[in-house]
Amino acid sequence: MGKVSNLKTIINKDYEKKINDLVGKMTLEEKIGQLTQFLPSIFGAFGMTKDEIIAKLVEGEISYEEFQAMERNYHKDEIKEGLLGSMGGVTGAELSNELQKIAVEESRLGIPLLFGLDVVHGYRTIFPIPLAEACSWDMELIEKTAEIAAKEASASGLHWTYAPMVDITRDPRWGRIAEGAGEDTYLGSMIAAARVRGFQGEDVSQPERILACAKHFAAYGGAVGGRDYNTVDMSLQTLHDVFLPPFEAAAKAGVGTFMSAFNDLNGVPCTVNKYLLTDVLREQYGFTGFVVSDANSIAEVEVHGYAENRREASKKALLAGLEMDMSQGTYKEDLPEQFKNSTISVEVLDEAVRRFLRVKFNLGLIDNPYRTNKVIEEQSLLAPEHIDIAREMAKRSIVLLKNENNILPLKKNLKKIAVIGPLADNKKELLGTWAITGNEEDVVTILSGITAAVENHTEIAYSKGCEVIGEEGMDFNLAVEMASDSDVIIAVVGENADMSGEASSRIDLNLPGRQEELLKALHQTGKPVIVVLINGRPLAIPWVADNVSAIVEAWQLGIQTGIAVADVLFGDYNPSGKLVATFPYSVGQVPIYYNHPRTGRPAGKIKFTSKYIDGPHQPLYPFGFGLSYTTFNYDNLVVHSPEVTKDSLTTISVDVTNTGKRDGEEVVQLYISDLVASRVRPVKELKGFKKVNLQPGERQTVTIDLDIHSLGFYNESMEYVVEPGLFKVCIGPNSQEGIEGELRVLEK
Ligand code: BGC
Repeated sequence: MGKVSNLKTIINKDYEKKINDLVGKMTLEEKIGQLTQFLPSIFGAFGMTKDEIIAKLVEGEISYEEFQAMERNYHKDEIKEGLLGSMGGVTGAELSNELQKIAVEESRLGIPLLFGLDVVHGYRTIFPIPLAEACSWDMELIEKTAEIAAKEASASGLHWTYAPMVDITRDPRWGRIAEGAGEDTYLGSMIAAARVRGFQGEDVSQPERILACAKHFAAYGGAVGGRDYNTVDMSLQTLHDVFLPPFEAAAKAGVGTFMSAFNDLNGVPCTVNKYLLTDVLREQYGFTGFVVSDANSIAEVEVHGYAENRREASKKALLAGLEMDMSQGTYKEDLPEQFKNSTISVEVLDEAVRRFLRVKFNLGLIDNPYRTNKVIEEQSLLAPEHIDIAREMAKRSIVLLKNENNILPLKKNLKKIAVIGPLADNKKELLGTWAITGNEEDVVTILSGITAAVENHTEIAYSKGCEVIGEEGMDFNLAVEMASDSDVIIAVVGENADMSGEASSRIDLNLPGRQEELLKALHQTGKPVIVVLINGRPLAIPWVADNVSAIVEAWQLGIQTGIAVADVLFGDYNPSGKLVATFPYSVGQVPIYYNHPRTGRPAGKIKFTSKYIDGPHQPLYPFGFGLSYTTFNYDNLVVHSPEVTKDSLTTISVDVTNTGKRDGEEVVQLYISDLVASRVRPVKELKGFKKVNLQPGERQTVTIDLDIHSLGFYNESMEYVVEPGLFKVCIGPNSQEGIEGELRVLEK
């Protein structure tokens, strides 16, 4: 594949001279300092080390506020001496400006600091977790929530978010599936670009924009066994066909930075992987920004056993093309000696510093180091329009998985509703993973959302029933008693926020604790049970799918969860979300994904085919699946140019009719199968979609563009090829249903 030419991180001639002048004036220590990022460290808090305290924060044992309040070292001396290029974890307009002032006014060269943080799904206004947002298939809204996150984060003094996470994953055991866009490469690439545009805008130097960071480069989502930080071993073809395109899309969208992944890829840790960081990223994708390590990952190269010590690890990292060392000071401690004794050429260091400074210049930081103040910050955080978008995004992220006998939407004038479950009246868990700057006080619980939606005379009975995990607080009896004389039971069950995200892989994909038992007890009452799922990953819940009346997949939708769930339950919003990751029937099926290569013995009736003897091979819910309160019919598929050349575009259309009684939106999905190729190809692959809104009875011709170039793949010689031949085309409501046509790609 050729170089990308439309990168927005362009090289500006005026800046180049200034950058070279600066580099010319810098001491060795100042250069390495620019490539170093520190977190504020904590002085002797609880007699624990910084890492232990951070672990407590991640575990939820201390809140972000408590963490923030601890007395800490902001490395003011290093800033004054010009020995830091970036700080992570500093928030607040006043504090960031105070530290910036030291860098600009007191350091020898006055180079401003770059402040970064994980702003993953909102800053103070917390939006749905990325996996949930992806289920909206709504690029405009996804871009919008990133834009608002950038507004609030920049108002609070940040310049840089370590997002979007664009890792494809096919393994829901991996907790970080919550942070990405799911299993599909095409959709994941579109979402990667939308999020980059949202954070950075057309011009990242505008004060309300922040730099984005495509992470984790690369293939982190392929961790064996779904176990976080674990090894990744895959063919180069799978890497380039499936796992890398979202990174390329981010690069094309002009993303300013990349973060290397913790894992090793085919035996080489990504942090020191020259093939990835230089050959692919710089040479193939034409990326001109800088690459940051993941936290402490340079030092961990030694633990991988890929370097004898930190010194060798830091040398390998720098030579591979990794510019910035995140948080552990490995470059700072272990590089200087190696330049002094000429083990590494200073030119390599200078180039890394130039790349980093170029980003600071492009961000406008050199000209305007103070991009916010207290007033801007106060006006921006939780602004009413941000909350409106949070509600909009939350309801569009919901996926209706089951709706037997159209039990939903519910009437608002029922006599009694039993709201049961450990997550029904909970705020914190609805924020999801990576919501460190969110505040649980901002969250509307599901119980409050339901209470606000119904008419005054409707009685709402609430009982927790049990905890998410463990035996404590179990009171099935009370829950069952309350439920027994209700019109309907709404059971809110699922996972706590810290059960997905980093270091939160699961061995099982069931409802944790006693929650399924609680559902069984509620089911016994004979009253209809509507399950609202709160979770950060697909779950394997066949009993629930078979037995309850309705399932509303509500993920962790952020501060407006309760309102959005009520909007769907009572029909103020007709759900339109579609799954972006397959729900397995059993954890034993994992990895399970819709676009798997063709086997020579596809599952069939006879024994010797690709299936299981003790359970189904089909998923519980496939990729692309999601119901609506109305129904849609698909007919009249037309492939407008059934014979096409490799570099052409074609369009495919289908007529979609709303055959139900209320208006609704449908994500019309286009899948393609390459029938014969020089490598075994996936059974089908998403190559386009359109979201349409139809009134009852309305019929619309939906036209989807297909770029024939996108039908290619990496062949045995690692060349990207579109091979001539017959392709099957399928348009439908999910990856398993639809109507079919054909398309022939011609030799020339
Ligand atoms: C995570 C990254 C994150 C970084 C900084 C690491 O542990 O893997 O995704 O950006 O911490 O918080």
